Amino acid sequence: MPVTHLDIQTTAAVAANRLPTLQVTDLRFTYPDGLEALKGVTFYIAPGEKAALVGPNGAGKSTLMLHLNGLLNGQGQVNVAGLPLVKENLPVIRARVGMVFQNPDDQLFSPTVFADVAFGPLHMGYPEDEVRQRVARALAQVGMADFAHRLSHHLSIGQKKRVAIATVLAMDPQILVLDEPSAGLDPRGRRQLINLLRDLPLTMLISTHDMLLVQELFPRMIMMDEGQIVADGQTAVLLNDKSLLEAHGLERPVISSQ
Ligand SMILES: Nc1ncnc2c1ncn2[C@@H]1O[C@H](COP(=O)(O)OP(=O)(O)O)[C@@H](O)[C@H]1O
Ligand SMILES: [Mg+2]
Repeated sequence: MPVTHLDIQTTAAVAANRLPTLQVTDLRFTYPDGLEALKGVTFYIAPGEKAALVGPNGAGKSTLMLHLNGLLNGQGQVNVAGLPLVKENLPVIRARVGMVFQNPDDQLFSPTVFADVAFGPLHMGYPEDEVRQRVARALAQVGMADFAHRLSHHLSIGQKKRVAIATVLAMDPQILVLDEPSAGLDPRGRRQLINLLRDLPLTMLISTHDMLLVQELFPRMIMMDEGQIVADGQTAVLLNDKSLLEAHGLERPVISSQ
């Protein structure tokens, strides 16, 4: 195939790390037991955009996210950071997309917090000094600076969540895909997470049931139900659509008077 001007531009832009996008087209996925979890999902997240992914339990949010770094493979097209999600591109894609799973026990497998957070940078071949710096920075970002030598499996769920986020921040990703990052956090941990996500200049797709977090951080909201996107638009508009929210088991955030 001839190389077009656009190909060259795209390749150059990817090389310059300037295409941190997510593009999903007509994605379908059925689990081996026959459960059709994604029934034709299409959306595009622009560079730098912060979008929330909401919807009731079982809507397909986690299944969708697992497609964004190739852990699941459905039918349809997935483009990440300007690259089609095919086997050859997986190492680059996985270096650019920081993915945090819903359950931190799926992410933390080293004996200590330090080893868990160091794993990615070590694997990428950074020298020891740089690895140490990255671990220290990432743990500080999630408010866990004093936990480096603690045992990962002894931490509380909220602490594990924060360490799981640190494991991806230590890789300096361009895109963050976080599956229910605030679930299980105490108010201080949640506030720290909100401040962190607000300050990180990254493209984000973050699933959550925390509608106050959505309202505070995400100008765009993608709503899923039963394996499909049922609404995609401005958070401020969708959060005012009471019947839409009710139809999909969601509630408007209620801000207390304090
Ligand atoms: N490993 C699996 N095998 C079979 N069905 C699954 C599996 N994981 C999830 N599902 C089903 O797929 C649907 C979507 O699940 P999930 O993506 O976890 O939704 P959400 O993250 O929105 O709660 C649900 O009906 C769920 O029961
Ligand atoms: Mg889920």
